[in-house]
Amino acid sequence: FSSPVTVTLTGAGGQIGYALLFRIASGQLLGPDVPVRLQLLEIPAGIAGAEGAALELEDGAFPLLDSVEVTDRAARAFNGTQMALLVGSRPRGPGMERADLLAANGAIFGPQGAAINEHAASDIRVVVVGNPANTNALIAQSHAPDVPRERFTALTRLDHNRALGQLAARLTVPVRDIDGVTIWGNHSASQYPDVSHATAGGTPVRDLVDEEWLTREFIPRVANRGAEIIEVRGSSSVGSAASATIDHVHDWVNGQRSRWTSVALPSDGSYGVPDGLVSSFPAESVDGQWRIVQGLELDEFSKSRIAASVAELATEREQVQGLGLL
Ligand code: NAI
Repeated sequence: FSSPVTVTLTGAGGQIGYALLFRIASGQLLGPDVPVRLQLLEIPAGIAGAEGAALELEDGAFPLLDSVEVTDRAARAFNGTQMALLVGSRPRGPGMERADLLAANGAIFGPQGAAINEHAASDIRVVVVGNPANTNALIAQSHAPDVPRERFTALTRLDHNRALGQLAARLTVPVRDIDGVTIWGNHSASQYPDVSHATAGGTPVRDLVDEEWLTREFIPRVANRGAEIIEVRGSSSVGSAASATIDHVHDWVNGQRSRWTSVALPSDGSYGVPDGLVSSFPAESVDGQWRIVQGLELDEFSKSRIAASVAELATEREQVQGLGLL
């Protein structure tokens, strides 16, 4: 990285944006010694929120924060950027069909991908948080032909962290003792949280919990945790989503502390996932690049769960192709 590092955040006037900004400014995104220049992108309706947050960032007097710029122009927001956090997206409105949602988001992520292609730094890395995150990442990536495709990722780290949290609670061990968990597939209820290679304090998790709990409680609870949070809290996950975004980027740049983590990235055909689909895999960061962990054995149950989520992603790709968004 050159110093300072230019970081672009879209949706900076929204909830996750607000939770992210202060952690970025304090050095938790890239590391404690890395100065940051922030470029915040919003639509006109969100500009005031982003400007207000920028005033508060000034009041935070963060030693690592060199500058903050707020704009509604993508070309400006992505100019020279090295790390793009694409959080802003179009939420599903009342009576909105899935095709409408994909079309509305295609109109956001296509042009943002093109702006990244044209204006970002050559070492640009991208994480898409805005839903439907995997397919939004695919759309952005397809509009950035000059950027190596594996630099476009989508966030499934929140699902990964949720799985760690559930296992730690069940086994009454600290989260740091758990390793080898994988989220496969789509960031949706079809995802497959997989513990078949997971360990707790070195012991296989499968020796510590029964199959019934795994299939009836753990998997559905992790996959539907977003809905549970909405039900209890009255609004969607914000702090945990921001925290997972920080973890994703931090580990991408600095390496993860576990054997691997979960990252949605364009498939290279690994584990039978069709080439190019942005699907979640076990991944390790090597020299600042995500690599899909190879050679994990999958039983029939795991294979069928992965295939089901990947089929959903393939359908989403067909839909956006049909809409002319790729
Ligand atoms: P929010 O509605 O509070 O904020 C979204 C912000 O994005 C708004 O300020 C809006 O003006 C802005 N925005 C909309 N279109 C934009 C564009 N074209 N360019 C720049 N900014 C734009 O929503 P919140 O709670 O911050 O969530 C953001 C997204 O993150 C949602 O799509 C949500 O579904 C998703 N999400 C993803 C998770 C994941 O694990 N991948 C977890 C939780 C949320």
